[in-house]
Amino acid sequence: MVNFFATVGAYLLGSLSFAVIVSKAFGMADPRSYGSGNPGATNVLRSGKKLAAVLTLLGDALKGWLAVWLALRFQGELQLDNVTIGLVAVAVLVGHMWPVFFGFKGGKGVATAVGVLLALSWPTALICAAVWLVMAFGFKVSSLAALVATAISPLVAWFFIPHLSWLLAVVVIALLVLYRHQSNIRNLLSGRESKIGDKAKPE
Ligand code: G3P
Repeated sequence: MVNFFATVGAYLLGSLSFAVIVSKAFGMADPRSYGSGNPGATNVLRSGKKLAAVLTLLGDALKGWLAVWLALRFQGELQLDNVTIGLVAVAVLVGHMWPVFFGFKGGKGVATAVGVLLALSWPTALICAAVWLVMAFGFKVSSLAALVATAISPLVAWFFIPHLSWLLAVVVIALLVLYRHQSNIRNLLSGRESKIGDKAKPE
């Protein structure tokens, strides 16, 4: 039963969409109404408010990290098995992508996935974040950087993650993140994907 509550708790934590919360706090428009329509740091940046984008990034990453860190911290006391740790990792991503508090219209999961990886295996998180940074500086396209970093994450995790169930969680998370980037893949293929720093076009 405690395994079930840990997983549901992670889903609820993931459902806190920081792009929407931070935008409301700053008196800005809902990020689902402009740019790519994605409630994530990249799209909040298109509003021109850098601080709001940074806070979104930090909030979304922090909730991913916190869900897994809490599960690991109390793994002994609550007798959570490693499968449950993997479920918690996936659940916080599912919450971010389909948030119960925000009409199930969530984000693409990149920042939250980095937070999850940081708690599961910090070397994996650091390598994936470094790949994201190199790609982002090189090509100035956030989604392309995310797609490459996500695609390699299971491979990197293979070297560092100690349990098969955690590795499976990383694979499921990577597939979910790639699935949520379908429109970005279409835009990349047709050369219409926007660059980092481009502002959202006014309605
Ligand atoms: O982290 C999300 C990013 O990869 C793409 O965001 O707004 O360009 O669809 P966006």
